[in-house]
Amino acid sequence: MSPTPGTPSGTLGSGAEQPDTYERSLAHWAEQGRAGMEAFYALASEDYRQMVAARNWSADLRRVARDSRVRALDVACGSGKFPAELMRRGLADALAGTTVEVDLLDPSAFSIAEARSVLGPPFVPAAEHEVRLQDLDPSHGDYDVAWATHALYAIPPSELDAGVARMVAALRPGGFGAVVQATTTSHYLRFAELFRAAHSPAGTPFTSAEQVAASLVAAGVTPSVGTLRYTVGSTDRDVVEGFLQRCVFDDSVPLSRMEADGPLGEYLAGCRGPEGYRFVQDVHVLTWDV
Ligand SMILES: C[S@@+](CC[C@H](N)C(=O)[O-])C[C@H]1O[C@@H](n2cnc3c(N)ncnc32)[C@H](O)[C@@H]1O
Repeated sequence: MSPTPGTPSGTLGSGAEQPDTYERSLAHWAEQGRAGMEAFYALASEDYRQMVAARNWSADLRRVARDSRVRALDVACGSGKFPAELMRRGLADALAGTTVEVDLLDPSAFSIAEARSVLGPPFVPAAEHEVRLQDLDPSHGDYDVAWATHALYAIPPSELDAGVARMVAALRPGGFGAVVQATTTSHYLRFAELFRAAHSPAGTPFTSAEQVAASLVAAGVTPSVGTLRYTVGSTDRDVVEGFLQRCVFDDSVPLSRMEADGPLGEYLAGCRGPEGYRFVQDVHVLTWDV
């Protein structure tokens, strides 16, 4: 299946014919998916706390600033959780007058509007690119920094080399790139694979950090790799159900059915304990200097 950017043809998981991964992503990154998005971030906000705490991002930005100005590309900007967490942790003070002009890239107009609405100092919203990364016009370049944080899962593995090559090419010589992505041992990827096997075996799998690293190498970059391991969880079954459904962009399968589902159920049983559900996340922070 070759999805077309900007055409959210997928339902939120209720249709008889299951749309593929990218279409389900786009259908959920829309106003009709707002409640699911908020349910997801009840647990997934931890992703952004962890990644921002893991690195001295202000030093990275200071290093690539020119004339107290950084030109940034936020790839698959989603609802802007990464810049929001950087702001919350005092990036404006750390940059002391340097502004970060952010171009927002996402095939979802909803995501671009959400991300734009959260940007405040030191960030200044700049251009908008309502396209898939694979389709970014190569004339958009000369960025000082480009980042993609928990952002590349819905790029089909077969198109990942093309997408990552666009991101690499968008950086100027001397620029800095970063991708934060879950590995195959993380909850995100393990759950997605087991869910796919049970409910949409013909669907396109999510891409992993390992695949992103290979695509970076194919694009001529040797990334440095930082690793993060942390757990997220809840005792509230509604919260867990909302989180899990959003993990796979499918609201049609209740938690009780997932729990009864062979290997998927066994995996979930392993995540369950006296303190409710706990999910282990293994995440790579891939960075490179051009
Ligand atoms: C989990 S969000 C990213 C979170 C974001 N980095 C943040 O800081 O909040 C994933 C985003 O990827 C976008 N997306 C899906 N497929 C894409 C593609 N091929 N190229 C670029 N973005 C894509 C979705 O529309 C969605 O907005």
